[in-house]
Amino acid sequence: MARRILVARQLPEAVEARAQRDHDATLNLDDAQYDADELVRRAAGHEALVICSSEKLTPEVIARLPAEIAIVATFSVGFEHIDVPAARERGLVVTNTPDVLTDATADVAFLLLLAAARRASEAERVLRARAWPRWTSRWLLGTEVTGKRLGIFGMGRIGRALAQRARGFEMTVHYHNRHRLPPEQEAGAVFHADPDDMLPHCDFLSMNCPATPETHHWLNAERIARLPDGAIVGNAARGAVVDDDALIAALGSGKLAAAGLDVYEGEPNIDDRYYGVENAVLLPHIGSATVETRDAMGFKCLDNLDAFFAGREPPDKLT
Ligand code: 8YV
Repeated sequence: MARRILVARQLPEAVEARAQRDHDATLNLDDAQYDADELVRRAAGHEALVICSSEKLTPEVIARLPAEIAIVATFSVGFEHIDVPAARERGLVVTNTPDVLTDATADVAFLLLLAAARRASEAERVLRARAWPRWTSRWLLGTEVTGKRLGIFGMGRIGRALAQRARGFEMTVHYHNRHRLPPEQEAGAVFHADPDDMLPHCDFLSMNCPATPETHHWLNAERIARLPDGAIVGNAARGAVVDDDALIAALGSGKLAAAGLDVYEGEPNIDDRYYGVENAVLLPHIGSATVETRDAMGFKCLDNLDAFFAGREPPDKLT
């Protein structure tokens, strides 16, 4: 049976087509960014919401949602933009999109490390400036990736997929996770119960954890100091995991050779100083941005709504 669904952001064509085929779907054709008041106003008359990380469901917004809204499907695996306890208390079902973006995001996590190590952005900037000098043996020398040690902070699905990629580069994988993984998932990676003990072993460090109060500004000056000199860090998780002051200072002093970032605190309004940091590879949050993955994320949102309205447990239910 067709349901009244508000899709709060523009989604891939195939996803919107399916939403319209199967439901009475209100789309956001201009991809306008609704503020809290606008979201609440537009939600009226609907039974379900599809949102992105751009829509913040604070306890206040959840309390103001029309009573008919029974389920919210977020087009993201991360759900720090939703106050899950408040949703649970209100009896609001919330679903996310795990699994389908694991490979795309792990690809970008590895891309960041590789591009930072080989100074890819810096090299391309020189080329595009038509400033390619003659060949010299000392120009644009990067850091070898093959055979180095990689520390992964957060060994969930994406962290494990990153480890798999790193093994292709003969890297030794170290990791910290809240719980040690079973041997078949660990696949030879070295577990560190205390992440601070892992840091001295990280020629490369990748953050692949969710944003939580515990991981807020986890990579700070003290932790950077524990890394080997010339280490390289990558963040394809969430900007809030990194203390920007500390990272920018360490990139400037040479303590860190380079960094690769896909996510930033306050994005898209990133810390202005990053624009001047030559040894940082900066991507605009494209971790899940492939045609296949974005379609799959949208279909997952719709699968969850369909299950819910058919009286079944949505496969990716968070509350
Ligand atoms: C999305 C993401 O681009 O899924 C997530 O948590 O960070 C990205 O895949 C974005 O958050 C979409 O809402």
